[in-house]
This record gives sequence, C-alpha cells and structure tokens, in this order.
Amino acid sequence: MKAIEINSFGGPEVLQVTEIPEPTPKSGEVLVSLHTASVNPADSKVRQGTGAGAANVTFPYIIGRDFSGVIKACGEDVIEFKPGDAVFGVLPVGVEGTYLEALTIEASVIAPKPETMSHAEAAALALSGLTSLVAIEDTLELQAGERILIQGGAGGVGNFAVQLAHHLGAEVITTASPANHDYLRDLGANQVIDYNTQDFTEVLSDIDVVFDLIGGEVHQRSFEVLKPNGRLAYIAPLLKNAEPPRDDITVMRPKVGRDRPHLLRIIDLYETGAIIAPDIQTLPLEEAGKAHDLVDTHHVRGKIVLQIK
Ligand SMILES: NC(=O)c1ccc[n+]([C@@H]2O[C@H](COP(=O)([O-])OP(=O)(O)OC[C@H]3O[C@@H](n4cnc5c(N)ncnc54)[C@H](OP(=O)(O)O)[C@@H]3O)[C@@H](O)[C@H]2O)c1
Repeated sequence: MKAIEINSFGGPEVLQVTEIPEPTPKSGEVLVSLHTASVNPADSKVRQGTGAGAANVTFPYIIGRDFSGVIKACGEDVIEFKPGDAVFGVLPVGVEGTYLEALTIEASVIAPKPETMSHAEAAALALSGLTSLVAIEDTLELQAGERILIQGGAGGVGNFAVQLAHHLGAEVITTASPANHDYLRDLGANQVIDYNTQDFTEVLSDIDVVFDLIGGEVHQRSFEVLKPNGRLAYIAPLLKNAEPPRDDITVMRPKVGRDRPHLLRIIDLYETGAIIAPDIQTLPLEEAGKAHDLVDTHHVRGKIVLQIK
C-alpha cells in the first residue's frame, strides 16, 4: 500500500511516497482503510525534528495523528464494529502514522463516523476537537458568562475552541489577522483583535480565562489581561525558561488523551449544530509536502486534509 515516509528530518521535501505492506489487526484492533488524514502543526514539528515526538523517531518514519476511513477487517474480540463501518479517530499518544492507505488501531479508542459528517470533516475535527474539549471543558472548566481570550482563533484548534466557548455561553474574544475576522465572528466570537496592529494588553483587562494556542511572548503577555485568580491553559511552546509572571493565576497544560467519549462529544456537538466543521483545504496524499508548505506558513484558516481515497 501507498504511504508517505521520511528518512531524515528536514523541509517538506523529505516527505516521500513509498510502498509498504498492509498491517494485520491483532486482537481488539481494526484495520481501517483511510479516506482522509488531517495535517497538524505537530506533524511539521516532527518532520523538522523539533517536536517532543521527534525524540522517539527512527527512520523510515510515517507521521500523522488523526484520520477517517472505513473498516476493512476486524481482529478477534472486536464486537462493536464490522467491515464496511465508517470510523474516525486519533492514534494513541506517542503513536504516529496516518499518511498512508491503511492502519491498525485499538477499536476502543475510535468512534463511528456519522453519515452527515464527511471523511474530510471527521479527520479535521478529530485531534483539534479532542484538544479543544479537553482544554476548555475538562481543564479550564469554562462557565457560562465568563470572558475567555483565545489566542489564535483561526487555526485548527482555534476555530473549534471559539465555537465551543460560544456554545458554553462564554463571552469570546480572540486574535486573528483581518482576513479571518468575519469568519470568527460567524463562528461566535464577540470580539476579534488584529494582533498585527493592536496590542491585546492595551485593549483587554478583567479576562477570566485564557486559552493560549500561540505560546512564546504571547503567552507571557497574556497574564497581564487576566483577572486576579484567573485561569490560563496553553498548548503551544513557551519561551525558554519562561516562568509565570504572576502567582495568582492557575496555569494548566491540558492532558489530551484519546478516547471514544470525547469523539462522541464531538459528534454530538456537530449533529446538534453547536459546532460546524472548519474551513478545509484538501490535497491528495501524494502532495503531503505541499500540505506541509502551507501549514508551515502558520496562517492556514481551519485545516489542511490529505485525501487518500
Ligand atoms: N495536544 C496538544 O497539546 C496540541 C494539540 C493540537 C495542537 N497543539 C499545538 O497548538 C498550536 C495551535 O495548533 P493549531 O492546529 O490551531 O495551529 P494552526 O492551525 O497551524 O494555526 C494557524 C492559525 O494561527 C493563527 N496565528 C498565527 N500566528 C498568530 C498570532 N501571533 N496570533 C494569533 N493568531 C495567530 C493564524 O491566523 P491568522 O492567519 O489570522 O494570523 C492561523 O489561522 C500549535 O503549536 C500546535 O502544535 C497542541
């Protein structure tokens, strides 16, 4: 079967088309024939050898974390799925390899894909959705009426986070370039700040909660706008040796696992119309390098998805 592998760290050109054998599902696993895989910024970090995941890479290596497809075969003891079922999910933490035509995965961590959700949407919503749910509902425990600042609302995680926070009844403030302001207002943002021309610390104060998807100095400056005893969760890299500049803020790093209940929550939010899929640009699997070129701009709106079938 076809796969995209890397044999060294480097630019998008290290992503090369290859042929590998199809895996066989073990007990409790399913073999999924992939229709789509999404491209996450973490994929690019691993490709460059800079992400936390890069430490465990041995070449040749296949990257990618979330996918959507159709079950081709079931291992022993799989009772909830049968061949032909459409499913989506995210590989376990520390496991990668979705830029290919088929993969095996524990049946217990994937979910049935609703017919109303396309394979491109399912792959686009999987890891971004899990991350937003774990950060905003489980970690920050955002409450109706609270004011949340989402740093970086237009990307894969951000668009879901904006919609989820709005759905939970929060007042949503986010940062983006002007071309994305209408998009984010349509998703439920009450206020969008152009971070290129406006310093958010000059226009905001008394924020209850910050969800930081940008990191670096944006993370450090975010403390300035929080209320006493505010909460901040972050998922992007911090400045080297960065320390919180205030000790009255609860700072949290969400632990994003993989499990079916969170995928079912994504489905529920999607089916009830609380969340719509992000803007999606699809490229064929063979053009994974071009997909990484786009992700490396850091200005993709929504998600890039690889079309495999
Ligand atoms: N489990 C985890 O811990 C986990 C999971 C998922 C993601 N992450 C990390 O979280 C971060 C965000 O992920 P993502 O998938 O949302 O990224 P993404 O889709 O690549 O984000 C792209 C968006 O970032 C916006 N952006 C770029 N620079 C900005 C700035 N200075 N201020 C505000 N917005 C800015 C761009 O909007 P404009 O074009 O409008 O500027 C663009 O739409 C990444 O570092 C990723 O690796 C971690």
